[in-house]
Amino acid sequence: MKLVVIGAQWGDEGKGKIVDYLAEKADVVLRYSGGANAGHTVVLNDQTFKLHLIPSGVITPEKQAVLGIGMVVDLENLFEELDGLEGSGIAWRGRVFISDRAHIVLPQYKEADRKRDAERRMPIGTTGRGIGVTYAQKAHRDGIRIGDLFDGEVWNRLSKEERAFLEPYREKIRDMVVDVSRFIHEHREGNILFEGAQGTLLDLDLGTYPFVSSGISCAAGAAIGGGIGPHSLDRVLGVFKAYSTRVGNGPFPSEFTEQRDGSLGDTIREIGKEYGVTTGRPRRCGYLDLVALSYACRSNSIDALCLTKLDVYDGMEEIKVCTAYSINGQQTRDFPAAIDRLNKAQPVVKSFPGWMQSLRDCRSYANLPVEARTYIEFAEQYVQTPVEIVSVGPSRSETILRRNPWTPS
Ligand code: IMP
Repeated sequence: MKLVVIGAQWGDEGKGKIVDYLAEKADVVLRYSGGANAGHTVVLNDQTFKLHLIPSGVITPEKQAVLGIGMVVDLENLFEELDGLEGSGIAWRGRVFISDRAHIVLPQYKEADRKRDAERRMPIGTTGRGIGVTYAQKAHRDGIRIGDLFDGEVWNRLSKEERAFLEPYREKIRDMVVDVSRFIHEHREGNILFEGAQGTLLDLDLGTYPFVSSGISCAAGAAIGGGIGPHSLDRVLGVFKAYSTRVGNGPFPSEFTEQRDGSLGDTIREIGKEYGVTTGRPRRCGYLDLVALSYACRSNSIDALCLTKLDVYDGMEEIKVCTAYSINGQQTRDFPAAIDRLNKAQPVVKSFPGWMQSLRDCRSYANLPVEARTYIEFAEQYVQTPVEIVSVGPSRSETILRRNPWTPS
C-alpha cells in the first residue's frame, strides 16, 4: 500500500511524529520535497531526534529511508545528520538511499538565498538554506543532480570550485544512489510511506504565493517524488495541529492578535514549544483555521486527518476556531489566492468550552473528555473528513488511534 502524509497547514504540524508512528508498518519511507529547510522532531523514549533531510522513518530499525526525486539536498547537512544518527546509536548504513534525480544545494546558493530575501520588496523570511535558489537553478536547467556526480559528461563541465566542493562526497554517496522509480517499483508489494515536508499552504502552487517555499509539498508531489503515477497512491493523510502556526512572513488570517486575544499567542507558543526546529525562530500562532483546512483537504484529496498537539489546549477555559473569513464586510468560506484579500481577512470565530484537564494519559477516543470530542467532531464535520489519529503528547505512546490509516479506504 502507498500512503502519503502531508502537512495540511503551514508546516510544523507534527508530521515527524506521525510518520515515525506510521513507519512501524512501513517497509520504505520516502521523503519527496524540500530540503534542509524542514525540521522534523521525533521523540523516542528519552531521546529527541531532529531531522532536516532524512525521512523520519530512519529512526525505526530496518526501515529503508529514501530521499526522493523532488528533494534538494545539502550534502554537508546530509552527512552531519547521518553522523549524528550514528552517534545516537541509529545504524543507517545500507538503508538510506538517495535519488539520482534529486538536486544538490551548493554553498553559494545559501548565500544567494539570504541576500535575495533581504533585498526583496516583500521578504519571505526564508530559512536561508538555499532552497529557492536550488529550485530556480533546476527550473533554469542549470542545476546539478546527485547522478551528475557520476556522469563524466556533466562532471567534466562543472567549474573547478564546484568539483572541489563535490569531490569528497562522490565516494561517500556512491552506494546510496538509486533510480527511485525502479526502487519503488521493486518494493511495490510492500508498504510505502511518502513523507511530505512543509505544508499545503507553503506549496509553490497551492500555497500563499509568494510567501511559500519552492517545492511541491502537496500530495501530488508524492507521485513525482517516488517516480510513479498519481493513481498508484492509495491514501492521503493530512496532519494538522489543534491551532495554527506559521514561521516567516506572509498572510495568516487566524493569527492571534494582542488586541483581540491578549497574551494567548505567547501562551500557546510556550506551551506548544513553537520555535523553529531549523532556525529557532518563534512561530506565529493562531486559531485553528477551518477555512484553510477545508482548502487543504479539497486540494489534496485528503482521505483522513491526524490531529496533533491537542494537549496544548489542556489548560484553556475557552477554545476558538475560525469558521469563515470576513473580507471587506462579506463572509466567505473560500481560501483566496490574493494576498491582499488574505491580509484583509478577519477570522469569524466559534467558541467551545475547554476540557480543563490533562489529555496526556488518554489512550482511546472514548476516554477523551466530551469537550475535546466535540471540538474534534466539529472540525471533522466542517471539513467533511474523518480524524483517524489524535496525538496528545510528543512521544509515540501518546497517540490515540481511531482507525488504522494503513487500512484501505
Ligand atoms: P524556504 O523554504 O527556506 O525558501 O522558506 C520559505 C518559507 O517557508 C519561509 O516562510 C519559511 O519559514 C517557510 N518554511 C520552509 N520550510 C519550512 C518548514 O519545514 N516548516 C515551516 N515553515 C517552513
